[in-house]
Amino acid sequence: MDQRETPVATAADAYLADERIAPFTTPGHKRSPHLADGALLYDLPLTTAVDDLHSSRGVLARAHALAADLWGADLARFCLNGSTQGNEALALAVGGDGGRIVVSRNLHASLFSGLVLAGLEPVWVRPEIDGATGLPRSVPAARVEDALARAGDARAVFLVEPSYVGVLSDVAAIADAGHARGVPLLVDQAWGAHLGFHPELPPHTLALGADGMVTSAHKTLAAFTQGAYLFGRGELLDLARLDGAFDMLHTTSPSAAILASLDRTRALMAARGEELLGRTVALARHAREELEAVEGLTVAATDDPTKLVLALAGTGADGLEVERDLVAEGLTLELANRDTLVPLLTIGDTEESVGRLVAAVRESVERRRGEPRDPGAASAVWAVEPEVALTPREAFYAPRETVPAGRAADRISAETVAPYPPGIPALAPGEVVSAELVAALREAAAGGTHLSYAADPTLETLQVVSRPRV
Ligand SMILES: Cc1ncc(COP(=O)(O)O)c(C=O)c1O
Repeated sequence: MDQRETPVATAADAYLADERIAPFTTPGHKRSPHLADGALLYDLPLTTAVDDLHSSRGVLARAHALAADLWGADLARFCLNGSTQGNEALALAVGGDGGRIVVSRNLHASLFSGLVLAGLEPVWVRPEIDGATGLPRSVPAARVEDALARAGDARAVFLVEPSYVGVLSDVAAIADAGHARGVPLLVDQAWGAHLGFHPELPPHTLALGADGMVTSAHKTLAAFTQGAYLFGRGELLDLARLDGAFDMLHTTSPSAAILASLDRTRALMAARGEELLGRTVALARHAREELEAVEGLTVAATDDPTKLVLALAGTGADGLEVERDLVAEGLTLELANRDTLVPLLTIGDTEESVGRLVAAVRESVERRRGEPRDPGAASAVWAVEPEVALTPREAFYAPRETVPAGRAADRISAETVAPYPPGIPALAPGEVVSAELVAALREAAAGGTHLSYAADPTLETLQVVSRPRV
C-alpha cells in the first residue's frame, strides 16, 4: 500500500478548507466564529465531514487498512479513548462467561476494567523486582509457563510491554509458550508506540509474535491526546469479536480531528520514523551520559533506549522537591516521587529541550543533595503473594464499605492500591487484605510514594467488600 496516503486527514483538510459548508448537523458549535475558540475550530465530526460510521464511504476503513499494513496486522482500529479502549476491547474479545487469563501484575487500571467487563479471572504473573532501584524488571517466560499450567484453560496471556520503566520481557518466548497451548498473546504496548521504527529500538510486539497489541499513539508519537492504535492478527484471536468489542466501546460521534491525527501519524512514521527516532535515541543517549555523571544518580537500565528513569535515592535528594524546582522552570515530568523521576522523551524533543532538562535536573539535585537512602525500601510491598477471594467482576459488583486501615486485615479489598512507580497494584479488588501489606503500603505513602487508585491515598482507610470472607 502507498503509505503516503492519508485518507482521513485529507478528507478532513478538504472539509475544513471548504468555505461554502454550512452544517445543519452536530457539533452544535458549528465552528461558528461567535462560539468556536482556537481549539474548537479543528473539531469536526467523522460523519458528514469525512466518512459515515453507519454507511461508510470507506475512508476510515482505508486508514485502518494502511495502519494494519504498516504494523503487519490483519486488523487495525483507531481508538479515541486511548489504550484504555484497546485494552478493554482485547479483554472483551477473549472473555465471556468467566474463564481465566494469565495477566502480568504490572497491568494498567484499564486492563483491570477489561477483566471486570469481560468477567475474566486473572492468574497473576509478577515481574521481577530490581533490588537496587526497587523498580520492576521483566516478566520471566518461565513464570508465564507456570501460570499457564496453573490456569489450565487460559483464554489468553496479557502483558504490559514495555513496562512503564522501559523494560521488555522475552515476548517471543512468551508468545511461543502460549501458542504451543493454542493461547493468544495480547500486549498493552501503551508506552511503546515508537517501537520497531529504528534499528536501535526493539521490534514492536506484534512482530515478536503477539496476536493483539494496543499502543498509545498520543504518548510517544504525534497523535492528538486520546488517540491510540489497536491491532489484531492471526487465527488465535477472534478478530470479528475484537472488532465488535471495539465498536461497543467506541463513541458513535468520533472526532475526525483525532482520527486524522492518527492517520497522519501513521504516514509520518512510515516516511520518517527512523529519522525521527534516530534523533530521539541520540538525545536520550546524551542525556543518559550527562545524568549518569551526577554523583549518586542512577539512570535505570532499560530496553527502550529513549526511556529515562532517574533513581535519586543515592543522591539523597527528594524527587518531589526536584520536581518543584523543574516545574518552576517550566519543565513538567511524566512522573515524580521521592525516589524516581520519569521525564518522557519523544520524537517531539530537541537538543534545546533535552539540554534544559539535563541542566535543570543537575542543578536541582546538587541543591537538594542529602543523606543517601536505601533504594529498595519499597520491596516489602512486592513480596506479598495475593490471596484471591473474588473475581474482579464479583468484587466490582459486591457492596462495599470504608473501614479504618487497622480493621481491614482479612477483609476482601474492594479497591486497587498501586504505589507509583512502578504502578503495579499491590492490592487488587477481590484480594484478601493482609496486615503486613497495609503496614508496608502506609510506610511507602508516609515516605512520599503516591498510592494510585486508592480512594484514600494516605491509606488511613480502605474500601472493602461489605460481607466477610467465607
Ligand atoms: C501501561 C498502560 N496501559 C494503558 C494506559 C492507558 O492509556 P491511555 O491513556 O492511552 O488510555 C496507560 C496510561 O498511562 C498505561 O500506563
